[in-house]
Amino acid sequence: MRNVMSWLANLFARGEPALSEASARDAGAIAALHSHSFRRGWSEPEVEALLLDRHVIAHRAGSGVKLAGFIMSRLVEDEVEILSVAVAQSQQGRGLAARLLDLHLRRLAGLGARAVFLEVDEHNRPAIRLYDRAGFAEISRRPNYYPASSGTAAALVLRRDLA
Ligand SMILES: CC(C)(COP(=O)(O)OP(=O)(O)OC[C@H]1O[C@@H](n2cnc3c(N)ncnc32)[C@H](O)[C@@H]1OP(=O)(O)O)[C@@H](O)C(=O)NCCC(=O)NCCS
Repeated sequence: MRNVMSWLANLFARGEPALSEASARDAGAIAALHSHSFRRGWSEPEVEALLLDRHVIAHRAGSGVKLAGFIMSRLVEDEVEILSVAVAQSQQGRGLAARLLDLHLRRLAGLGARAVFLEVDEHNRPAIRLYDRAGFAEISRRPNYYPASSGTAAALVLRRDLA
């Protein structure tokens, strides 16, 4: 049994990270990746509370038991706010966030979501590229929203409608 488990773990570790819905069991790994990825981290209890919230939808990407990335949104009525998306540094630039976002948006559409909103730092080029490729458009701008090394940076508010 143990051999089968390690064979399976190796198989998954070699291939593309597998995508699936996240659950409260992922709270620790998501909190750790979030803290590495953002200036203001989320604690494990905060993440756990989000994952247990019935309005929150989350997906994970994993290589074996290791978390490679996640995306999390809040869906209220037919509007969604993307709360966070992050990919581990060692896995970036391989299309993983694009795959997570695509799966996430399809799931949200299936749940009846019509419009998706998010905020992104105006200097965050990988994230802006990600959302641009996924069909998001800028609808407004909040100046002086994020702290930055040279003062502050604006938040771009993006929107995408789901058919
Ligand atoms: C934003 C983030 C999730 C993207 O993850 P990723 O898996 O590397 O993204 P992808 O590989 O799917 O690439 C998405 C796009 O960004 C581009 N990109 C990736 N890394 C880049 C970089 N360092 N500089 C510029 N563009 C970059 C890719 O080329 C791709 O564009 P393309 O489709 O035109 O080629 C990741 O950089 C991250 O976790 N950043 C820290 C957390 C964060 O800022 N989250 C977003 C908050 S709104």
